[in-house]
Amino acid sequence: MSSPLPLSGKVALVTGGGRGIGKAIAHRLASAGANVVIASRKLEHLERTAAEFASLPGRTLPMVCHAGRKEELERLVSLTTSQLGPIDILVNNSATNIGQGPALEVTDEAFLKTTELNVLAPLRLVRLIVPSMIARGAGGSVINIASIAGLRPQRGGLVYSFTKAGLIMMTRVWAMEFGAHNVRVNAICPGLIKTDFSEHFWNNPGYVAELERTQPIPRIGRPEEIAGIALYLASIESSYVTGQCFTIDGGNTAV
Ligand SMILES: NC(=O)c1ccc[n+]([C@@H]2O[C@H](COP(=O)([O-])OP(=O)(O)OC[C@H]3O[C@@H](n4cnc5c(N)ncnc54)[C@H](OP(=O)(O)O)[C@@H]3O)[C@@H](O)[C@H]2O)c1
Repeated sequence: MSSPLPLSGKVALVTGGGRGIGKAIAHRLASAGANVVIASRKLEHLERTAAEFASLPGRTLPMVCHAGRKEELERLVSLTTSQLGPIDILVNNSATNIGQGPALEVTDEAFLKTTELNVLAPLRLVRLIVPSMIARGAGGSVINIASIAGLRPQRGGLVYSFTKAGLIMMTRVWAMEFGAHNVRVNAICPGLIKTDFSEHFWNNPGYVAELERTQPIPRIGRPEEIAGIALYLASIESSYVTGQCFTIDGGNTAV
């Protein structure tokens, strides 16, 4: 008899799950048997991804949601719960990096919008989902996609770095407050991964040459290379792991 998949019967919500790192994570979770909602603004990406994932063991359900709108997040959680059941795994992945540029040129608007998407949206989702994890007593896993930009300053990235550092600290406070309820909260800090989001960097030959000269693994990462740690953090394999930040960056910050 074959053993059950590690996430059989689990329900996961992955924001920004239609492309990039979120898509790779959603694929890994659904391959491990979880039923996964992928949520973002554009239905076409989501539907294409759900169709690609149709033969995986877990179901993939696309849902449109703008992460900056409180009522859309509320609707997302309520629809996910009514269609798949209570959420066991939350992956806070969607983010923005608008407003990159010199620190003295950061506008209030860029600051507020970036903060709303990168920090307030995860906070709202945790507030909507974790009480039910606690009430059910079944535990849960929250995985926050931060960045190495949240670990060390990024020139021209004041607001982005600030929000990712904030998400890392929120991860630790949540871990502290939820640990006794077996709700674990961890962060992943990717280095440069080739997605639409990071085109500004991987399309810059000078930046890439410097990365290839200095980084221990001298190449840009792939979204799939972030998915394995997310599966680990979602599964029982990481039952004694909380409040941690896992850096997946080809060794960039190690040297
Ligand atoms: N790529 C890197 O080098 C890198 C490095 C470190 C950290 N990260 C982090 O990794 C995460 C994923 O980034 P990625 O590189 O995979 O980017 P990506 O390929 O551009 O994907 C971003 C995802 O977020 C969704 N999204 C954007 N704005 C949204 C909004 N307002 N509401 C809901 N969904 C929204 C997008 O879908 P729609 O367009 O359909 O809304 C898309 O699915 C982010 O948290 C990013 O900060 C990336």
